[in-house]
Amino acid sequence: MSRQNILITGASSGLGYTMAKMYAEQGRNLALCARRVERLEELRDEIAKLNPDVKVAVRSLDVNDHDQVFEVFKAFADDLGHIDRVIVNAGMGKGASLGTGYFHANKQTAITNFVSAIAQCEAALELFRAQNHGHLVTISSVSAVRGFRRAMTVYAATKAALSNLTEGIRIDLIGTPIKATTIHPGFIRSEINEKVKTVPFIVDTETGCKSILKAIEKEGASYYVPGWPWELMCRIMKIMPIGMLKKMS
Ligand SMILES: NC(=O)c1ccc[n+]([C@@H]2O[C@H](COP(=O)([O-])OP(=O)(O)OC[C@H]3O[C@@H](n4cnc5c(N)ncnc54)[C@H](OP(=O)(O)O)[C@@H]3O)[C@@H](O)[C@H]2O)c1
Repeated sequence: MSRQNILITGASSGLGYTMAKMYAEQGRNLALCARRVERLEELRDEIAKLNPDVKVAVRSLDVNDHDQVFEVFKAFADDLGHIDRVIVNAGMGKGASLGTGYFHANKQTAITNFVSAIAQCEAALELFRAQNHGHLVTISSVSAVRGFRRAMTVYAATKAALSNLTEGIRIDLIGTPIKATTIHPGFIRSEINEKVKTVPFIVDTETGCKSILKAIEKEGASYYVPGWPWELMCRIMKIMPIGMLKKMS
């Protein structure tokens, strides 16, 4: 089934921004949101040059304002007629070892990446249940498979929770035409990791997003992308002694 109208949260930079451009090249209509709406407007102008036939709706959204999440998703459905796919992508990676004075940053990451993802999934599924079709995609991370230390402690926990949430939603939707997919990206260059110099197996944004889009199109339960090396790495990570995990963050 072709998912023509696609809503992406966190579309002002990194993966969301690049996925939007790639979908525009394929002729899909887009509903794009983030807090930095000026970046979305620039992206809309760029897409208009790239493919003038594509409809692009942009709206400002702070996903931590949960009432606004529901309002903006409904407004996008009105803008484009309906929404076929929602990509819950907005996320952040601030934080530090617990007990070192960074509770505020750890809490902000927990709320943005998990509680606000629930709001986005709720708002998406309200639309999908009403129209009896749709594809929900959540952008988790390979860090969901194990615990990690330092800045990644809370981040990895939010991604594990998000993967679990999406699996639960998929089970809940068995027997309906609505689908749910979790994407676990490996390291892809973007603003989230621009200050981190050595990142294992990192790929550029284009390469990473091509793999993500290919996986999304399959509409299965869960994918590790790019497939090489992350499908194998995640199997290994699941049984890795914690001393080895210590070296990975
Ligand atoms: N890059 C990687 O290596 C990697 C790997 C695994 C998973 N991921 C996940 O991929 C997703 C996208 O990350 P990225 O790498 O593209 O990072 P990024 O370049 O920092 O982009 C993050 C996006 O999320 C948006 N966002 C953050 N907080 C928000 C809020 N409160 N309300 C609305 N939007 C918000 C940002 O928009 P505004 O600031 O304009 O609001 C921005 O568009 C995240 O969920 C991240 O955890 C990334």
